[in-house]
Amino acid sequence: MKTLSPGATIGILGGGQLGRMLAMAASRLGFSCIILDPDRNCPAGKIARAMICADYDDETALAALSAECDVITYEFENVPAHAVAFLQAAGSALAPPPKALEISQDRLREKNFLQDIGIATAPYQPVENEARLRTAIENLGLPALLKTRRLGYDGKGQAIIKNQNDITNGWKAMQSAPAILEGFIDFALEISVITVRGADGNSKTYHPARNIHKGGILRRSIVPSGADAPIITEARTIAMKIANALDYIGVLGIEFFVGKDDSLMVNEFAPRVHNSGHWTVEACGISQFENHIRAIAGWPLGDTARHSNCEMENLIGEDAANWQALTAEQGALLTLYGKRHQRSGRKMGHVTRLKPL
Ligand SMILES: Nc1ncnc2c1ncn2[C@@H]1O[C@H](COP(=O)(O)OP(=O)(O)O)[C@@H](O)[C@H]1O
Ligand SMILES: [Mg+2]
Repeated sequence: MKTLSPGATIGILGGGQLGRMLAMAASRLGFSCIILDPDRNCPAGKIARAMICADYDDETALAALSAECDVITYEFENVPAHAVAFLQAAGSALAPPPKALEISQDRLREKNFLQDIGIATAPYQPVENEARLRTAIENLGLPALLKTRRLGYDGKGQAIIKNQNDITNGWKAMQSAPAILEGFIDFALEISVITVRGADGNSKTYHPARNIHKGGILRRSIVPSGADAPIITEARTIAMKIANALDYIGVLGIEFFVGKDDSLMVNEFAPRVHNSGHWTVEACGISQFENHIRAIAGWPLGDTARHSNCEMENLIGEDAANWQALTAEQGALLTLYGKRHQRSGRKMGHVTRLKPL
């Protein structure tokens, strides 16, 4: 990776709130951003230097992005393989590396990769049809969670199987897509580690956050997590091991289950900035967004230490209608994503409340 100078242009595939906060961090360091997204009104497009409104596999659009940008990054993991191949053939520098995308796009590959490097996951089996699902249930037991291998997010593409009567409907919910069955983990808590790895191969981690999900969607991230010190150290070590194994450059978000017996399993990782790291904007000197930009620009990484404890709450759907009360609340730090249409289950913004360390 070459080191970018201030004034260089960064391309971002995807223009959601993650792209928007990346563009804000980039602009603080003197870079400008071009967003590629099919939605003209996407949150990041409104604040970037330019936006290209096109599908992710539109070759004319990709060629324009490639010509204008010194490095191209992404804010979602489902970038089509074709787009990645096209950009590489056009000579674009891409960070994080496409290998991380390929692995994290497929839950089966992701779990195989983790197992191969000696990291514990929930027990799992691939499932291609209902008969295979029945065998997998015999092997793993119930309850279990059936998930599509690809394209799931915010708990979508998942079905819980509690007993034999759930099997047929569970398989139907996959809509014939290849799937994976996971043993249901009765965890004590969920934590995540936001890791950043620089072009020089050094990595840093932010303190783990405890994550509370409702209906598969992240509601709150709390720092510190309440996990014991050895768990925290182990999670941070595992996170850096994953980043090293991927030859990673940029921010990588890693989700863990902490067992009631203090065991640690990786649930999944995202090759991008992560919702459970939004708190780093308010509670750290250098946020996950700035550190991602620093890493892909070949700049020194910033300090990941926090100056405050905090709790981040996602504003989902109608929660965001509460903006007046939230701005009036002392100590509540509000971020809104500029989405025009509020829909149930849609992330509209978040609020972080700082607490003394
Ligand atoms: N094997 C499992 N056992 C228990 N809970 C799970 C398991 N897998 C996922 N979950 C719960 O569902 C949430 C969403 O699942 P996840 O695999 O992270 O998918 P997504 O890509 O939608 O975030 C997790 O954060 C966790 O709360
Ligand atoms: Mg998840």
